Amino acid sequence: MTSLDDMQDLVSLCKRRGFVFPSSEIYGGINACWDYGPLGVQLKRTIKDRWWNAMTSRKDIEGLDAAILMHPRTWEASGHVSGFVDPLVDCKKCHARFRADHLEPAFLAIHQCPTCRGELTDPRQFNLMFKTFMGPLEDSASQIYLRPETAQGIYVNFLNVAQSMRQRIPFGIAQIGKAFRNEITPGNFIFRTREFEQMEMQFFVKPGDDSEWFDRWKESRLQWQLALGIRPERLRVEPHSAAELAHYARAAVDIQYQFPFGWQELEGIHNRGDFDLTRHQTWSGKKMEWVTETERFLPYIIETSAGCDRTLLVVLADAYRMDDERALLALHPDLAPYQVAFFPLMKKPELCEIAEKLCRDTQMRYDYDETGSIGKRYRRQDEIGTPFGVTIDYDTLSTQTATIRHRDTKAQERIPLESIDAYIKDKSASWVPPKADL
Ligand code: GAP
Repeated sequence: MTSLDDMQDLVSLCKRRGFVFPSSEIYGGINACWDYGPLGVQLKRTIKDRWWNAMTSRKDIEGLDAAILMHPRTWEASGHVSGFVDPLVDCKKCHARFRADHLEPAFLAIHQCPTCRGELTDPRQFNLMFKTFMGPLEDSASQIYLRPETAQGIYVNFLNVAQSMRQRIPFGIAQIGKAFRNEITPGNFIFRTREFEQMEMQFFVKPGDDSEWFDRWKESRLQWQLALGIRPERLRVEPHSAAELAHYARAAVDIQYQFPFGWQELEGIHNRGDFDLTRHQTWSGKKMEWVTETERFLPYIIETSAGCDRTLLVVLADAYRMDDERALLALHPDLAPYQVAFFPLMKKPELCEIAEKLCRDTQMRYDYDETGSIGKRYRRQDEIGTPFGVTIDYDTLSTQTATIRHRDTKAQERIPLESIDAYIKDKSASWVPPKADL
């Protein structure tokens, strides 16, 4: 078996099998926008549910769903109006557009386009926030932004959540939601898009306790990623050097994944100090302090910020395998859009009835397929990552057993009908990603 080495193989599988479609495709598509199909949206929902449950099942974390549109002062306070910029250069000849900080320094130094060798413009600062207008007048007074991150909705609600939920420092607020960035160079499928979802958690701590919480969250988030079934050798934690640190961060690490196009960030964990609450306190004129009988301070914030689409891409890219006769998605059985598929061997009422009853009785996400040869049905389920296929045949009528086929090994065995769910649960708990040569 081999791993994914060309993203295009994954892009076409995703389209063919209903995971991800190019957005507005009948109009020729729109650059870097994608739609999640039936299987993609199920997988994404499963990932989000796992994250949400891991966060909000803790007593010290509350959930939130803040509005995408916020008061424009929010983005002045956060630093996005002045600082959320990328340096943009254009080629005067072929009109290609680049982020200056992504160009080879040699090309930048001589103002040369790496594609056509034409002349490049000087870098211009380009703000990544999407602008729109609130109300009927399209003037600067009514200009607002689509949020470029979900975090700010959490900061401005810090005291609302603490007071309404009677939380005490340290505690966290978790949120999943859309964010928008007018990226200069989106690409690599759903890796960098202009509309995406984030899963962010902000943990408010007493100054002095921040380093310890930063380390705890770093470890906890890595373990969460590993529990998705991603191969450990393809994940790493990279600290930001002093030069790379964002203006708001006291310390930061990226959890990175080794994509076919290199090691790239999947999630960031940041110690943001009191930057955010200080800024919102100053810009709003409202006290954001934590006050008790004995203490008064601005909490420090430890942030964990993962891209939901990017996590889904990692899950798919890591699961992709090829062997001599098939492509398969070796997804963790708990994540697969369908955890099991039921097949009557032939389209005969006595077999279909049993398979349909199994569908009604199972507690798992399932698919049912009665058309085509059994080999073709297995292949289709392999490609969409269904870990187990259960085939009902004529022996089932007399023995009340069925054949269960394993996606990763193609091995088959016979098990009693009544123990299908328990069997799959047991196998799913001990599942490990299949080895690949490359
Ligand atoms: N609040 C902190 C923050 O937003 P970030 O590193 O800019 O930090 C966090 O973004 C995560 O959001 C990234 O690790 C990535 O997974 C995801 N993300 C950021 N920009 C993205 C884009 N254009 N497309 C898809 N995902 C993106």
